Amino acid sequence: MLTWVNHIALAVPDLEATAARYRDSFAATVSEPQALPEHGVTVAFVAIANTKIELLEPLGENSPISSFLAKNPDGGMHHICYEVPDLLAARDHLKAAGARVLGDGNPKIGAHGKPVLFLHPKDFFGTLIELEEVN
Ligand code: CO
Repeated sequence: MLTWVNHIALAVPDLEATAARYRDSFAATVSEPQALPEHGVTVAFVAIANTKIELLEPLGENSPISSFLAKNPDGGMHHICYEVPDLLAARDHLKAAGARVLGDGNPKIGAHGKPVLFLHPKDFFGTLIELEEVN
């Protein structure tokens, strides 16, 4: 079911400072920050040969990462995103296996313009999992 790691997302309190640290410490290529008001985040991507690291900074009042940063003020790993070839088939399989899908259980268009779902972290030993359909 799982094919590739699409991205690993880090919630950070200061996107500019984080991007500068990745550039300076790792000589990494970091994209320009992009505000995504409909997702409540500003995002930048660290290019890695086989995946990407998504840096997320809260944007606006009701950011979905605000409570995470309240608990982890220095920032931290927020979620991992796996690619699946068929998101609805993956959802139905996971639900039948007892996993909880967040929200109303229907895919939403994610930050990369592709359908995504999130799985409850309590069902996966503390890690929030995003599934993205890539086919
Ligand atoms: Co993500």
